Amino acid sequence: MHEYTAIAHPNIAFIKYWGNRENDLRLPANGSISMSLGALETRTSVTLLPELISDELELDGSLQSGSALERVSIFLEIFRSISGRHEFARVVSDNSFPQSAGIASSASAFAALALAASHAYELLLTERELSILARRGSGSAARSIPSGFVEWHRGSSNDDSFAETIAPLDYWPLWDCIALVEDQPKKVGSTLGHQLADTSPLQSARLQDADRRLDLCRKSILEKDFAKLADVIELDSNMMHAVMLTSCPPLMYWSPLSVEIMRQVSGWRTGGLEAAYTLDAGPNVHVICSADARPRVSHQLSEIQGVLDVIVSPVGGGAFLIPH
Ligand code: DP6
Repeated sequence: MHEYTAIAHPNIAFIKYWGNRENDLRLPANGSISMSLGALETRTSVTLLPELISDELELDGSLQSGSALERVSIFLEIFRSISGRHEFARVVSDNSFPQSAGIASSASAFAALALAASHAYELLLTERELSILARRGSGSAARSIPSGFVEWHRGSSNDDSFAETIAPLDYWPLWDCIALVEDQPKKVGSTLGHQLADTSPLQSARLQDADRRLDLCRKSILEKDFAKLADVIELDSNMMHAVMLTSCPPLMYWSPLSVEIMRQVSGWRTGGLEAAYTLDAGPNVHVICSADARPRVSHQLSEIQGVLDVIVSPVGGGAFLIPH
């Protein structure tokens, strides 16, 4: 049986996805915008084996059982039902970055898996169809299929909630300098977090204002206007964390060091450095910066007491298949 291998990059959201209007299909409560992170990658191989009696998953060298395998198996069931084929699959997946680094790997994981599985099950899919399928494994994975700067449309149903490139990877040489604050996996995963979003009285205000922020963000990318981009990504990150902090039970992903870094980054920008912070569902701080600012930003971050490491990434491409 043939082995298919795909590579996908994680992405960092400038406008965040937080909350679903439909959990099973992962139809998001709002649209989102992100940048692909070219320096990091997940490589995933899929082989269909007629002798298997269930799917198999090897992640970073260790065989998985329980919830990780179950999530992959439920995802592969979609490919079996569309293709009409019944073989189970052996999935081998490796991340170029340690999972313990707390960088969300589900986006690159399900994007790479969607692409490799679509070939293994002999489905000929467009980029849009692939993004829709990847979305069902992990919402943010929809955004790891296309290249460069990407927008995931909220859509009105399963068939039109997909992500596409809004500016190619060489359009604007931005960088993400990730300050690692903790190296433990997060306590409450995003899947559970999304389900709590509606318990916050602030979520409806966040959603009501989402199209305005999406417009501002899209425009600032297309116009390469760093000051405008910085304002909207910090606002959007703060709004998502305000929802998290006020959900029931509350989710507090920031650590004291995250807050210290956010303050410093804002101060650097006031002093003329093109840098802005954004945080996902964890304490690590992503500092988006211009190419000129990157050496200073990564150096200054590494000088902050308590920062474990700084990972630096340029804008990356989309998911692709490796020829065997
Ligand atoms: C805070 O895509 O990880 O990173 O669909 O349950 O896998 P699942 O959630 P996930 O949520 C991402 C949340 C976020 C914001 C973002 O990336 O937009």
